[in-house]
Amino acid sequence: MKKIVKKRLMKIQPYQPGKPIDEVKRELGLKQVVKLASNETPYGPSPKVVKAMAQAAREVNRYPDGGCFYLRKELARRLKVYENQLVFGNGSDEIIVMAIRAFAGEGDEVVVAKPSFLIYDIASRVNGATVKSVPLKDFRYDLDGMKKAVTKKTKIIFIGNPDNPAGTYVTAGQLKKFLKSVRSDILVFLDEAYFEYVNDKDYPDAIKLLKAHKNLIVARTFSKMYGLAGLRVGYGIAHAEVVDILNRVREPFNINSIAQAAALAALKDQSYYRRVAIEIEQQRQWLYQQFEKMDVDFKKTVTNFILIDVKKDSRMATQALMKKGVIVRDMSFWGLNTYIRVSIGTEVENKKFIKAFKQLV
Ligand SMILES: Cc1ncc(COP(=O)(O)O)c(C=O)c1O
Repeated sequence: MKKIVKKRLMKIQPYQPGKPIDEVKRELGLKQVVKLASNETPYGPSPKVVKAMAQAAREVNRYPDGGCFYLRKELARRLKVYENQLVFGNGSDEIIVMAIRAFAGEGDEVVVAKPSFLIYDIASRVNGATVKSVPLKDFRYDLDGMKKAVTKKTKIIFIGNPDNPAGTYVTAGQLKKFLKSVRSDILVFLDEAYFEYVNDKDYPDAIKLLKAHKNLIVARTFSKMYGLAGLRVGYGIAHAEVVDILNRVREPFNINSIAQAAALAALKDQSYYRRVAIEIEQQRQWLYQQFEKMDVDFKKTVTNFILIDVKKDSRMATQALMKKGVIVRDMSFWGLNTYIRVSIGTEVENKKFIKAFKQLV
């Protein structure tokens, strides 16, 4: 089969998911393992969401609603956008993939930051586009550098805001200036997967910017704050013309019916998620204090994950923590050979992590 596969695919390293918790327990003979590797929320979905899922489960003999009718209505009302400005994806990953499929193929270029969320790069190369990576400056976006990387062939610029793994964001002022300076025939993809965690005043209100910038798409997800990563629901908010284009490359039933019911129930249960946000914020502060006490080099974040320079081989560090029952993300795949990324867990999980981490440093 290698003879007939598209040549470029064999040069792509598949995305490496972490090992399941049970497998790590079995392999290492551990009773308790905590997973702080994929930026999930440690709190399950709200009880109301679980109830909505159970109800929806009774009707899985039917195909899901391909238009996400109720979820679309509720989300449009909350975001104050038209229903035809929303496109749903199997996770926001799929919104990224759809945008690339629609706009960037062979002979085209895509501009990304480095290090950044890996799917921008992988999906672009799968589709035959050339990726131009612009290094972060002090773990922040170098928007001037990204502008300089734009050529006649550029079709999409990806901005993770806040981005993974850095955990930093582009401010409202910086984004406005950047959007004004970018050609209107380039899609600016603003990935706001961690939007719900950000409280900072100068964080952009991206939806307001859609009116003036028809080449902007904002992607969000139910995977992070809403705790539905396993169900895969994300969405894009854009001008109706962009949404229409993305719908042409979308699989017809890409959001399953249990996921639609869960996402709708989650939207209606904001008080639960506000409590989750407060918990995460408290735990973030607690972790900062621990790192400061240990004199550890870490990056302040507006998200639910923290990047840490362990000043030693990150693969070894990750293995050592795993042996103590804590799974974190080794950042060497991103070219950060002495860094690990830890997702903020519950109080108990974070204490277990800090105990193991102390032994490491
Ligand atoms: C920056 C960023 N964007 C998008 C995603 C994709 O999330 P999902 O496909 O679960 O919505 C992630 C997940 O880790 C992420 O870190």
